[in-house]
Amino acid sequence: MIQTLNVELAERSYPIYIGSGLLSQPELLTPYLVRKQAVVVTNATIAPLYLDVLRSTLQKGGISALPVILPDGEKYKTWETLNLIFDALIGGHCERNTTLIALGGGVIGDMGGFAAACYQRGMPFIQIPTTLLSQVDSSVGGKTAINHPLGKNMIGAFYQPKMVLADISTLDTLPDRELKAGLAEVIKYGLIRDPDFFAWLEANLDKLLARDAKALAYAVHRSCANKAEVVSADERETGERALLNLGHTFGHAIETGLGYGKWLHGEAIAAGTLIAAELSKRLGWLAEPSVQRIESLYRQAGLPALGAPLGAARYLELMRHDKKVRDGSLRLVLLREIGLAVVADGLDEGMICAAIEARCT
Ligand code: NAD
Ligand code: GLY
Repeated sequence: MIQTLNVELAERSYPIYIGSGLLSQPELLTPYLVRKQAVVVTNATIAPLYLDVLRSTLQKGGISALPVILPDGEKYKTWETLNLIFDALIGGHCERNTTLIALGGGVIGDMGGFAAACYQRGMPFIQIPTTLLSQVDSSVGGKTAINHPLGKNMIGAFYQPKMVLADISTLDTLPDRELKAGLAEVIKYGLIRDPDFFAWLEANLDKLLARDAKALAYAVHRSCANKAEVVSADERETGERALLNLGHTFGHAIETGLGYGKWLHGEAIAAGTLIAAELSKRLGWLAEPSVQRIESLYRQAGLPALGAPLGAARYLELMRHDKKVRDGSLRLVLLREIGLAVVADGLDEGMICAAIEARCT
Protein backbone atom coordinates (compact mmCIF):
# COMPACT_ATOMS: atom_id res chain seq x y z
CA MET A 1 0.00 0.00 0.00
CA ILE A 2 1.26 3.47 -0.89
CA GLN A 3 0.35 6.44 1.29
CA THR A 4 0.63 9.92 -0.17
CA LEU A 5 0.95 13.28 1.53
CA ASN A 6 1.43 16.70 -0.01
CA VAL A 7 3.65 19.56 1.02
CA GLU A 8 1.51 22.51 -0.05
CA LEU A 9 3.71 25.31 -1.35
CA ALA A 10 1.69 26.71 -4.27
CA GLU A 11 3.59 26.09 -7.51
CA ARG A 12 6.38 24.33 -5.59
CA SER A 13 4.05 21.80 -3.92
CA TYR A 14 5.21 18.19 -3.99
CA PRO A 15 4.14 14.72 -2.90
CA ILE A 16 5.66 12.40 -0.32
CA TYR A 17 5.13 8.72 -1.14
CA ILE A 18 5.41 6.28 1.77
CA GLY A 19 5.32 2.48 1.48
CA SER A 20 7.30 -0.72 1.05
CA GLY A 21 9.10 -1.65 -2.16
CA LEU A 22 8.66 1.78 -3.77
CA LEU A 23 12.24 1.87 -5.02
CA SER A 24 11.41 -0.63 -7.74
CA GLN A 25 8.35 1.18 -9.09
CA PRO A 26 9.31 3.29 -12.14
CA GLU A 27 5.84 4.82 -12.46
CA LEU A 28 6.36 6.72 -9.19
CA LEU A 29 9.61 8.34 -10.24
CA THR A 30 9.52 8.91 -13.98
CA PRO A 31 6.74 11.55 -14.09
CA TYR A 32 9.00 13.83 -12.04
CA LEU A 33 11.97 13.78 -14.41
CA VAL A 34 11.75 16.51 -17.05
CA ARG A 35 14.74 15.15 -18.94
CA LYS A 36 15.58 11.46 -19.24
CA GLN A 37 18.85 11.98 -17.39
CA ALA A 38 19.50 11.68 -13.66
CA VAL A 39 22.47 11.91 -11.35
CA VAL A 40 22.17 9.68 -8.29
CA VAL A 41 24.11 11.04 -5.31
CA THR A 42 24.68 8.39 -2.67
CA ASN A 43 27.47 7.04 -0.48
CA ALA A 44 29.78 4.04 -0.23
CA THR A 45 27.53 2.26 2.31
CA ILE A 46 24.21 2.73 0.51
CA ALA A 47 25.45 2.18 -3.06
CA PRO A 48 26.03 -1.60 -2.68
CA LEU A 49 22.59 -1.94 -1.07
CA TYR A 50 20.27 0.16 -3.22
CA LEU A 51 22.01 1.77 -6.21
CA ASP A 52 21.49 -1.15 -8.62
CA VAL A 53 17.80 -1.46 -7.89
CA LEU A 54 17.28 2.27 -8.35
CA ARG A 55 19.28 2.35 -11.57
CA SER A 56 17.33 -0.55 -13.02
CA THR A 57 14.03 1.12 -12.04
CA LEU A 58 15.14 4.31 -13.77
CA GLN A 59 16.29 2.32 -16.79
CA LYS A 60 12.83 0.74 -17.08
CA GLY A 61 11.48 4.28 -17.26
CA GLY A 62 13.99 5.11 -20.02
CA ILE A 63 16.17 7.24 -17.74
CA SER A 64 19.96 7.09 -17.70
CA ALA A 65 21.58 7.52 -14.29
CA LEU A 66 25.08 8.73 -13.49
CA PRO A 67 26.10 7.62 -9.97
CA VAL A 68 28.11 9.85 -7.65
CA ILE A 69 29.37 7.83 -4.70
CA LEU A 70 30.57 9.94 -1.77
CA PRO A 71 32.41 8.88 1.38
CA ASP A 72 30.03 8.02 4.23
CA GLY A 73 29.71 10.15 7.36
CA GLU A 74 28.70 13.41 8.97
CA LYS A 75 32.37 14.45 8.92
CA TYR A 76 32.17 14.51 5.11
CA LYS A 77 29.28 16.98 5.03
CA THR A 78 31.76 19.59 3.81
CA TRP A 79 32.70 21.93 0.95
CA GLU A 80 35.25 19.38 -0.26
CA THR A 81 32.64 16.64 -0.61
CA LEU A 82 30.13 19.06 -2.12
CA ASN A 83 32.73 19.83 -4.79
CA LEU A 84 32.89 16.14 -5.71
CA ILE A 85 29.20 16.42 -6.68
CA PHE A 86 29.90 19.52 -8.80
CA ASP A 87 32.87 17.75 -10.43
CA ALA A 88 30.57 14.89 -11.45
CA LEU A 89 27.78 17.19 -12.65
CA ILE A 90 30.09 19.27 -14.81
CA GLY A 91 32.18 16.27 -15.93
CA GLY A 92 28.97 14.41 -16.87
CA HIS A 93 27.71 17.37 -18.98
CA CYS A 94 24.61 17.59 -16.81
CA GLU A 95 22.19 20.27 -17.88
CA ARG A 96 19.97 22.55 -15.85
CA ASN A 97 17.04 20.16 -16.29
CA THR A 98 18.94 16.99 -15.36
CA THR A 99 17.47 15.68 -12.09
CA LEU A 100 19.65 15.08 -9.03
CA ILE A 101 18.39 12.15 -6.96
CA ALA A 102 19.65 11.99 -3.36
CA LEU A 103 19.65 8.34 -2.28
CA GLY A 104 20.57 8.01 1.39
CA GLY A 105 20.21 9.46 4.85
CA GLY A 106 20.12 13.08 5.96
CA VAL A 107 23.76 13.74 5.13
CA ILE A 108 23.30 12.74 1.49
CA GLY A 109 19.90 14.49 1.29
CA ASP A 110 21.20 17.76 2.76
CA MET A 111 24.34 17.79 0.60
CA GLY A 112 22.62 16.58 -2.56
CA GLY A 113 19.89 19.17 -2.10
CA PHE A 114 22.41 21.97 -1.60
CA ALA A 115 24.33 20.88 -4.72
CA ALA A 116 21.04 20.89 -6.67
CA ALA A 117 20.22 24.38 -5.37
CA CYS A 118 23.59 25.69 -6.58
CA TYR A 119 24.29 23.83 -9.84
CA GLN A 120 23.56 26.17 -12.73
CA ARG A 121 21.57 28.19 -10.15
CA GLY A 122 19.16 25.35 -9.51
CA MET A 123 18.39 21.93 -10.97
CA PRO A 124 15.44 19.67 -10.05
CA PHE A 125 16.00 17.16 -7.28
CA ILE A 126 14.29 14.19 -5.71
CA GLN A 127 14.74 12.85 -2.19
CA ILE A 128 14.90 9.08 -1.65
CA PRO A 129 15.55 8.89 2.11
CA THR A 130 16.84 5.56 3.43
CA THR A 131 17.16 6.21 7.18
CA LEU A 132 14.31 6.62 9.64
CA LEU A 133 15.58 10.10 10.46
CA SER A 134 15.61 11.20 6.84
CA GLN A 135 12.21 9.64 6.12
CA VAL A 136 10.53 11.45 9.01
CA ASP A 137 12.38 14.75 8.86
CA SER A 138 15.31 15.79 6.70
CA SER A 139 13.92 14.79 3.28
CA VAL A 140 10.83 16.96 3.76
CA GLY A 141 10.83 20.74 3.87
CA GLY A 142 13.72 21.84 1.69
CA LYS A 143 16.42 22.63 4.24
CA THR A 144 19.74 21.79 2.58
CA ALA A 145 23.20 22.45 3.97
CA ILE A 146 26.75 21.51 4.74
CA ASN A 147 28.56 21.93 8.06
CA HIS A 148 31.26 24.47 8.91
CA PRO A 149 33.93 23.61 11.50
CA LEU A 150 32.43 26.32 13.72
CA GLY A 151 28.79 25.39 13.31
CA LYS A 152 26.36 22.74 12.10
CA ASN A 153 24.46 23.27 8.83
CA MET A 154 25.73 26.85 8.66
CA ILE A 155 26.07 27.01 4.86
CA GLY A 156 22.98 26.10 2.88
CA ALA A 157 19.77 27.02 1.14
CA PHE A 158 16.04 26.47 1.31
CA TYR A 159 15.42 24.39 -1.80
CA GLN A 160 12.43 22.08 -2.15
CA PRO A 161 12.55 18.68 -3.86
CA LYS A 162 10.15 17.72 -6.67
CA MET A 163 9.06 14.67 -4.69
CA VAL A 164 10.03 12.46 -1.76
CA LEU A 165 9.99 8.67 -2.00
CA ALA A 166 10.17 7.00 1.43
CA ASP A 167 10.59 3.27 0.88
CA ILE A 168 10.07 1.73 4.32
CA SER A 169 11.72 -1.54 3.26
CA THR A 170 15.10 0.21 3.03
CA LEU A 171 14.95 0.47 6.84
CA ASP A 172 15.50 -3.32 7.03
CA THR A 173 19.24 -2.82 6.57
CA LEU A 174 19.59 0.17 8.88
CA PRO A 175 21.86 -0.45 11.88
CA ASP A 176 20.01 -0.46 15.25
CA ARG A 177 21.86 2.60 16.48
CA GLU A 178 20.69 4.58 13.42
CA LEU A 179 17.09 3.41 13.86
CA LYS A 180 17.14 4.64 17.45
CA ALA A 181 18.65 7.98 16.39
CA GLY A 182 15.74 8.41 13.96
CA LEU A 183 13.28 7.88 16.80
CA ALA A 184 14.52 11.10 18.40
CA GLU A 185 13.02 13.14 15.53
CA VAL A 186 9.83 11.03 15.58
CA ILE A 187 9.35 11.74 19.30
CA LYS A 188 9.96 15.43 18.56
CA TYR A 189 6.65 15.74 16.66
CA GLY A 190 4.76 14.36 19.65
CA LEU A 191 6.49 16.79 21.95
CA ILE A 192 6.04 19.97 19.95
CA ARG A 193 2.50 19.58 18.54
CA ASP A 194 0.99 16.10 18.62
CA PRO A 195 0.38 14.80 22.19
CA ASP A 196 -1.77 11.88 20.92
CA PHE A 197 1.16 10.74 18.81
CA PHE A 198 3.42 10.98 21.87
CA ALA A 199 1.02 8.68 23.73
CA TRP A 200 0.92 6.34 20.71
CA LEU A 201 4.73 6.22 20.80
CA GLU A 202 4.71 5.36 24.50
CA ALA A 203 2.41 2.43 23.72
CA ASN A 204 4.09 1.29 20.49
CA LEU A 205 7.79 2.00 20.83
CA ASP A 206 8.60 -1.70 21.14
CA LYS A 207 7.03 -2.35 17.74
CA LEU A 208 9.14 0.37 16.17
CA LEU A 209 12.30 -1.00 17.78
CA ALA A 210 11.36 -4.46 16.44
CA ARG A 211 10.94 -2.87 12.96
CA ASP A 212 7.29 -3.80 12.62
CA ALA A 213 6.58 -2.55 9.07
CA LYS A 214 3.05 -1.38 9.82
CA ALA A 215 4.14 0.59 12.90
CA LEU A 216 7.08 2.11 11.03
CA ALA A 217 4.87 3.17 8.12
CA TYR A 218 2.43 4.75 10.57
CA ALA A 219 5.20 6.62 12.41
CA VAL A 220 6.74 7.87 9.14
CA HIS A 221 3.35 8.96 7.81
CA ARG A 222 2.30 10.76 11.00
CA SER A 223 5.70 12.46 11.33
CA CYS A 224 5.64 13.61 7.69
CA ALA A 225 2.03 14.81 8.06
CA ASN A 226 3.14 16.98 10.99
CA LYS A 227 6.19 18.25 9.16
CA ALA A 228 4.28 18.94 5.93
CA GLU A 229 1.74 21.06 7.84
CA VAL A 230 4.44 23.10 9.55
CA VAL A 231 6.48 23.63 6.38
CA SER A 232 3.40 24.56 4.33
CA ALA A 233 2.56 27.23 6.91
CA ASP A 234 6.09 28.58 7.40
CA GLU A 235 8.55 27.47 4.72
CA ARG A 236 11.31 29.96 5.60
CA GLU A 237 11.13 29.58 9.39
CA THR A 238 9.85 33.01 10.26
CA GLY A 239 7.61 31.54 12.95
CA GLU A 240 6.20 28.08 13.70
CA ARG A 241 8.89 26.13 11.83
CA ALA A 242 11.42 27.09 14.52
CA LEU A 243 9.58 24.67 16.83
CA LEU A 244 10.97 21.79 14.74
CA ASN A 245 14.29 22.74 16.30
CA LEU A 246 13.37 21.47 19.77
CA GLY A 247 16.59 20.21 21.35
CA HIS A 248 18.64 21.30 18.33
CA THR A 249 20.41 24.34 19.81
CA PHE A 250 21.87 22.18 22.58
CA GLY A 251 22.20 19.16 20.27
CA HIS A 252 24.09 21.02 17.55
CA ALA A 253 26.48 22.29 20.27
CA ILE A 254 27.18 18.67 21.21
CA GLU A 255 27.78 17.65 17.58
CA THR A 256 30.09 20.60 16.83
CA GLY A 257 31.80 20.53 20.24
CA LEU A 258 32.67 16.84 20.12
CA GLY A 259 33.52 16.80 16.39
CA TYR A 260 30.99 15.83 13.70
CA GLY A 261 30.05 12.17 13.74
CA LYS A 262 31.07 11.30 17.33
CA TRP A 263 27.44 11.35 18.42
CA LEU A 264 24.74 10.69 15.84
CA HIS A 265 22.51 13.67 15.10
CA GLY A 266 19.46 11.99 16.67
CA GLU A 267 21.44 11.12 19.81
CA ALA A 268 22.52 14.73 20.24
CA ILE A 269 18.92 15.90 19.69
CA ALA A 270 17.61 13.50 22.34
CA ALA A 271 20.09 14.79 24.93
CA GLY A 272 19.44 18.38 23.81
CA THR A 273 15.69 17.91 24.21
CA LEU A 274 16.14 16.72 27.77
CA ILE A 275 18.20 19.83 28.54
CA ALA A 276 15.37 21.90 27.03
CA ALA A 277 12.84 19.97 29.16
CA GLU A 278 14.96 20.57 32.27
CA LEU A 279 15.11 24.30 31.55
CA SER A 280 11.35 24.36 30.89
CA LYS A 281 10.82 22.72 34.29
CA ARG A 282 13.10 25.22 36.04
CA LEU A 283 11.10 28.06 34.48
CA GLY A 284 7.99 26.55 36.06
CA TRP A 285 6.51 25.70 32.65
CA LEU A 286 6.79 21.92 32.42
CA ALA A 287 5.65 19.67 35.25
CA GLU A 288 8.10 17.12 36.71
CA PRO A 289 5.91 14.10 35.72
CA SER A 290 6.03 15.30 32.09
CA VAL A 291 9.83 15.53 32.22
CA GLN A 292 9.88 11.98 33.56
CA ARG A 293 7.61 10.74 30.76
CA ILE A 294 9.93 12.30 28.17
CA GLU A 295 13.07 10.90 29.77
CA SER A 296 11.51 7.48 30.09
CA LEU A 297 10.55 7.38 26.38
CA TYR A 298 14.07 8.37 25.34
CA ARG A 299 15.57 5.74 27.64
CA GLN A 300 13.18 3.11 26.23
CA ALA A 301 14.34 4.12 22.73
CA GLY A 302 17.96 3.57 23.79
CA LEU A 303 18.78 7.25 23.37
CA PRO A 304 21.06 9.28 25.65
CA ALA A 305 19.36 10.94 28.58
CA LEU A 306 22.42 13.03 29.40
CA GLY A 307 24.36 15.49 27.25
CA ALA A 308 28.10 15.52 26.55
CA PRO A 309 30.32 16.99 29.32
CA LEU A 310 31.51 20.06 27.42
CA GLY A 311 30.89 22.44 30.31
CA ALA A 312 28.13 25.05 30.30
CA ALA A 313 30.42 27.87 29.11
CA ARG A 314 31.45 25.90 26.02
CA TYR A 315 27.81 25.03 25.30
CA LEU A 316 26.91 28.71 25.41
CA GLU A 317 29.83 29.64 23.15
CA LEU A 318 28.76 27.06 20.56
CA MET A 319 25.08 27.95 20.91
CA ARG A 320 25.80 31.56 19.92
CA HIS A 321 26.19 30.30 16.32
CA ASP A 322 22.63 28.97 16.33
CA LYS A 323 20.55 30.10 13.37
CA LYS A 324 17.75 31.26 15.68
CA VAL A 325 19.99 33.88 17.37
CA ARG A 326 18.43 37.31 16.82
CA ASP A 327 20.20 40.61 17.56
CA GLY A 328 22.87 38.59 19.35
CA SER A 329 20.37 36.98 21.75
CA LEU A 330 19.76 33.27 22.15
CA ARG A 331 16.30 31.98 21.33
CA LEU A 332 15.43 28.49 22.51
CA VAL A 333 12.57 26.11 21.82
CA LEU A 334 11.09 25.07 25.17
CA LEU A 335 8.06 23.10 26.33
CA ARG A 336 4.95 24.29 28.10
CA GLU A 337 3.59 20.75 28.16
CA ILE A 338 3.89 17.56 26.12
CA GLY A 339 2.48 18.62 22.76
CA LEU A 340 3.02 22.36 23.21
CA ALA A 341 6.35 24.02 22.37
CA VAL A 342 7.23 27.72 22.35
CA VAL A 343 10.17 29.86 21.25
CA ALA A 344 11.59 31.67 24.27
CA ASP A 345 14.01 34.59 24.39
CA GLY A 346 15.40 36.88 27.05
CA LEU A 347 16.22 33.87 29.22
CA ASP A 348 18.57 34.16 32.16
CA GLU A 349 21.96 32.68 31.19
CA GLY A 350 22.57 31.44 34.71
CA MET A 351 19.42 29.38 34.51
CA ILE A 352 20.37 27.99 31.07
CA CYS A 353 23.79 27.00 32.47
CA ALA A 354 22.21 25.35 35.50
CA ALA A 355 19.93 23.26 33.26
CA ILE A 356 22.91 22.23 31.13
CA GLU A 357 24.97 21.24 34.19
CA ALA A 358 22.05 19.27 35.62
CA ARG A 359 21.61 17.29 32.41
CA CYS A 360 25.22 16.66 31.36
CA THR A 361 27.63 14.11 32.78
P1 NAD B 1 23.28 9.70 7.82
O1 NAD B 1 22.86 10.31 6.56
O2 NAD B 1 24.70 9.86 8.23
O3 NAD B 1 22.93 8.15 7.76
C1 NAD B 1 23.23 7.35 8.86
C2 NAD B 1 24.08 6.12 8.50
O4 NAD B 1 23.24 5.12 7.95
C3 NAD B 1 25.15 6.38 7.45
O5 NAD B 1 26.28 5.60 7.75
C4 NAD B 1 24.49 5.88 6.17
O6 NAD B 1 25.42 5.49 5.18
C5 NAD B 1 23.74 4.68 6.69
N1 NAD B 1 22.57 4.27 5.94
C6 NAD B 1 21.65 5.08 5.35
N2 NAD B 1 20.63 4.35 4.90
C7 NAD B 1 20.90 3.07 5.18
C8 NAD B 1 20.21 1.86 4.99
N3 NAD B 1 18.98 1.83 4.46
N4 NAD B 1 20.79 0.71 5.37
C9 NAD B 1 22.01 0.73 5.99
N5 NAD B 1 22.70 1.85 6.23
C10 NAD B 1 22.15 3.01 5.83
O7 NAD B 1 22.40 10.22 9.05
P2 NAD B 1 20.87 10.57 9.20
O8 NAD B 1 20.56 10.31 10.61
O9 NAD B 1 20.04 9.98 8.15
O10 NAD B 1 20.85 12.15 8.95
C11 NAD B 1 21.52 13.03 9.81
C12 NAD B 1 21.76 14.32 9.06
O11 NAD B 1 20.51 14.90 8.70
C13 NAD B 1 22.51 15.36 9.87
O12 NAD B 1 23.52 15.91 9.08
C14 NAD B 1 21.45 16.40 10.19
O13 NAD B 1 21.98 17.68 10.32
C15 NAD B 1 20.56 16.30 8.99
N6 NAD B 1 19.18 16.75 9.22
C16 NAD B 1 18.64 17.60 8.34
C17 NAD B 1 17.33 18.01 8.48
C18 NAD B 1 16.70 18.90 7.45
O14 NAD B 1 15.60 19.40 7.68
N7 NAD B 1 17.33 19.09 6.32
C19 NAD B 1 16.57 17.55 9.55
C20 NAD B 1 17.15 16.65 10.45
C21 NAD B 1 18.47 16.25 10.27
N1 GLY C 1 14.52 19.85 10.89
C1 GLY C 1 14.07 21.16 11.11
C2 GLY C 1 13.36 21.76 9.98
O1 GLY C 1 13.22 21.17 8.93
O2 GLY C 1 12.94 22.87 10.07
